[in-house]
Amino acid sequence: MAYTVSKLTDYSAAALERAVAKLLAALESEAGAVSNEADWKVFRDRWLARKNGVLTLVNDLWLKAAPKDAKRDVGQRVNQLKSQVEETVEATRQRMLGGTSASKLTSERIDITLPGIRRPLGAEHPVIKTMNEIVSVFRNLGYSVEEGPEIETDYYNFEALNFPPNHPARDTQDTIFIAGQESKPLRDRLLLRTHTSPVQIRTMEKQRPPVRVVCPGKVHRNDAPDATHSPIFHQVEGLAVDTNITFCDLKGTLDHAMKALFGSSVKTRFYPSFFPFTEPSADVQISCIFCGGKGTRDGGPCRNCKASGWIELLGCGMVDPNVYGFVDYDSRKISGFAFGMGVERIAILKYGVDDIQLFFNGDVRFLEQFG
Ligand code: PHE
Repeated sequence: MAYTVSKLTDYSAAALERAVAKLLAALESEAGAVSNEADWKVFRDRWLARKNGVLTLVNDLWLKAAPKDAKRDVGQRVNQLKSQVEETVEATRQRMLGGTSASKLTSERIDITLPGIRRPLGAEHPVIKTMNEIVSVFRNLGYSVEEGPEIETDYYNFEALNFPPNHPARDTQDTIFIAGQESKPLRDRLLLRTHTSPVQIRTMEKQRPPVRVVCPGKVHRNDAPDATHSPIFHQVEGLAVDTNITFCDLKGTLDHAMKALFGSSVKTRFYPSFFPFTEPSADVQISCIFCGGKGTRDGGPCRNCKASGWIELLGCGMVDPNVYGFVDYDSRKISGFAFGMGVERIAILKYGVDDIQLFFNGDVRFLEQFG
């Protein structure tokens, strides 16, 4: 039964105290039952409302109705009650705000059965990862690292590398030429570099021999994209110039590098080739890492090396003496070798990727496998 204020018939101190105790007990128990803001408002109004609130009723039924000689004591007690009730109502409100209420716990509880929030770590791109790996193989041999601009002049990309104007070797390295440069001499016209070899020239212009550098970077060619071609790809160039550098040094260096990249059982083979800026020139082949150089795999021809047992990987050669003429090196006193390798090609082999486009599509399901 909810508490109601009843008239006092007995105004003695003891009777008054009994009535007060009953009221305070009701106040405490009702305050304890308040569990949310809506409850609290009902509770507040029940006790404090001007019209029919418990305190108003106490005032009417106890104080106003009191005989003259009891008015003073009853008045004091009622005033005390008034502040007790106000304090309890306020304390109850604080409890609501304080966050310990059952309703607050319900509305803000954490569902520990939900999966956590995943914050994926970024991963190094497989092309950059491979490029860094190649560079570190040569850094360990004492090479330093140089970079050059992606937008090159005709001079650095072609002319100083012994591609004369209109030479047919230029056709193998078609690229994007910046428009509207017809008024400039050919050598100053800008294009997107087709290889990292221009950095060979820039390095030799800056530095006297001995030179040992690797030059990683992005290059561009007029190639239609397919599983093995991309109009943008990456190369790592190498250049070593010193006294008495021979083709043996070139072979030993690249044989070591291929073993460092693909495993010590890999063999290398140097196959005659042509580049305008090296003489002699070679393509380096490695024994097929899929069939172990046998040319057959799972009882059939190996598809990765077209059953040859060899995979062509990079170009190299002894620096052509004509190139030294462009950078004022004395070709009678020094010699050197250069090489250039495609980073994507190496990454494809190392990671068994079957389509170069995967490197550029930005699909995280592919990329995160390299994290
Ligand atoms: N620049 C050549 C290419 O991109 C590769 C190469 C570099 C060949 C250095 C020989 C020496 O095809």
